[in-house]
Amino acid sequence: MPSWKRKGKSGSKKEGEPSTAQTLLSVVNNASNLSLPTLSTLPSLPISRPQTPNQPERQQQQQQNSPEQIPSPEDLRRKAKRDAAFGPLESPSHLCVSRHPGGHLADAVVDEPPYFYLFTTYISFLILIFVGHIRDYIAKWFTPHKYRHLMARNGYAPLYSDFDSFYTRRLKLRINDCFDRPTTGVPGRYITLLDRETDDNLHFRLKGTTTDTLNLSSYNYLGFAQSEGPCADFAEETVRRDGISMTGTIGDAATTSLHVEVERQIARFVGKEDAVVFSMGFVTNATTFPAIVGKGCLILSDELNHASIRFGARMSGASIQVFAHNSMTDLEKKLRDAISQGQPRTHRPWKKIVVTVEGLYSMEGTMVNLPRIMELKKRYRFYLFVDEAHSIGAVGPRGRGVCDYFKIDPAEVDILMGTFTKSFGANGGYIAADKAIIDKIRCTNAGQIYGEAPTPPVLAQILSSVRLIADEDPLHSGEGQERLQRLVFNSRYLRLGLKRLGFIVYGHDDSPIIPVMLYNPAKMPAFSHEMLKRKISVVVVTYPATPLELSRARLCISASHTKQDLDRFLVACDEVGEALQIKFSSGVAGGLRERPVPGDAKNAQILEKPRWTVKEVIERGVKDVQGTLY
Ligand SMILES: Cc1ncc(COP(=O)(O)O)c(C=O)c1O
Repeated sequence: MPSWKRKGKSGSKKEGEPSTAQTLLSVVNNASNLSLPTLSTLPSLPISRPQTPNQPERQQQQQQNSPEQIPSPEDLRRKAKRDAAFGPLESPSHLCVSRHPGGHLADAVVDEPPYFYLFTTYISFLILIFVGHIRDYIAKWFTPHKYRHLMARNGYAPLYSDFDSFYTRRLKLRINDCFDRPTTGVPGRYITLLDRETDDNLHFRLKGTTTDTLNLSSYNYLGFAQSEGPCADFAEETVRRDGISMTGTIGDAATTSLHVEVERQIARFVGKEDAVVFSMGFVTNATTFPAIVGKGCLILSDELNHASIRFGARMSGASIQVFAHNSMTDLEKKLRDAISQGQPRTHRPWKKIVVTVEGLYSMEGTMVNLPRIMELKKRYRFYLFVDEAHSIGAVGPRGRGVCDYFKIDPAEVDILMGTFTKSFGANGGYIAADKAIIDKIRCTNAGQIYGEAPTPPVLAQILSSVRLIADEDPLHSGEGQERLQRLVFNSRYLRLGLKRLGFIVYGHDDSPIIPVMLYNPAKMPAFSHEMLKRKISVVVVTYPATPLELSRARLCISASHTKQDLDRFLVACDEVGEALQIKFSSGVAGGLRERPVPGDAKNAQILEKPRWTVKEVIERGVKDVQGTLY
């Protein structure tokens, strides 16, 4: 086992330098010193802690900091470790409630870069593809042994010959170091990267040092990725009592009382009669569709639905039709056609029609237009399946997903699916529905019959985090609410800030996923490297997860971030955005100086593109995030 050393400000750490936790403490306290001296010019943040529900812990910390009781190095180390996973709330004004104002959900406005920029993006891809094909052609002649898997041999067809293979070798390979970065420790507010080096962007060597970075890359929405605290304590206690694994399938002898308790808790939390849990989110979708639909049924699926939904839908044998992303007009048209025409050739009515959507789309940051879907459901009587992987625990005033957000009775949605990998800091998935549907799933779903049971510590993490969110843990009353409101504040604050700085960001206001558009393939590694230089981890995404020309940095916001973290990111983004020239916003999607007056034609014409200074953004941000963003 290599022993990892954390990198100090100027490279790898030497023997005798401060311990990991001391380094973390300096990272937490001196975030601005890392790479962004400009932060020092910004207004200083309040140092007094707000009166929030975790009073006992807060008081203890205040006592620790009082002059009479100077904290020991061990206390400081533990605090630094705790803060690196979950930052303290800086002010009660950094809280916001996630609630839809009512009515239909307006479509997220999509801004576009200048045509010239789109043109250069296409040209870049054309050059990359052209040069890639020439290199392939030449290399197959001169180094055929390296291309055996791409060529027909001894009568066998080539193993990989499609565009995906070409894309991976000739395009992604050039920026491979931006992906799959190995990490260690808790992926909380900070994430620790294992430093590596490469000569060919294909083979990487670990250097044996680590770097702590601000983490905008994990789906840790409520900050439950922690190695300390009530959830970790309960998980540890459960391991000591029940062990690590149930070593069996749910359908055999692996269902424990904890398992049953989690299922009941989930059903209660999402507002359905019953629920089943699975050990993997992907498998939840992949095995549920074959259990509920089959030949003669129709699945109407949003074009941006997750791979697990598409996989499950294909496995089911049902017919699949795709409607344009979040387009209720297209969905209604497809419904009318399907109902009037029935099944192909025979024109018999479909046995079942299931409309499948996600609550919050992970690449676009858009929320489903649930109010409009419910209207269509009343008129056309289809079954509705909502995948809440990203919305459960992340949206709604009580964190109970899109039904909570839009004030829709969950009883009206037939099947609610979700995963525990995101907001709950665990793993696995659930299906919640009426008892009759759940009974059928228990008997016919392969994931339930043959799948491994979720392990006891994972169940413990799920149970304790859900109890915190639902405010059912008397020892930590109000903590879940605080996390929910911090997440919403952080998401809205950063989104508004980026829009005001001039970036094109996609998605709805309350979404904790914020895609910052980069478009050009060369800007992706540049953005990722510049952020890493400033000790910030971001995920850049491109084809096949997005259309070829819509590359982006997908920022994932967490309740564990503090406003200071977000300001640090805004400063970094401002510098990098100027250097890379990626501030394209025309203002149609927001970021304006004045709140537009509804129906005022003069205001509708944007005279000034949003290009605020970062100082202005930070000064005005806290006040302006309350209410509709503009
Ligand atoms: C919408 C959606 N559904 C299902 C899944 C699968 O969940 P898991 O990663 O927990 O297996 C994901 C994963 O990101 C997702 O985004």
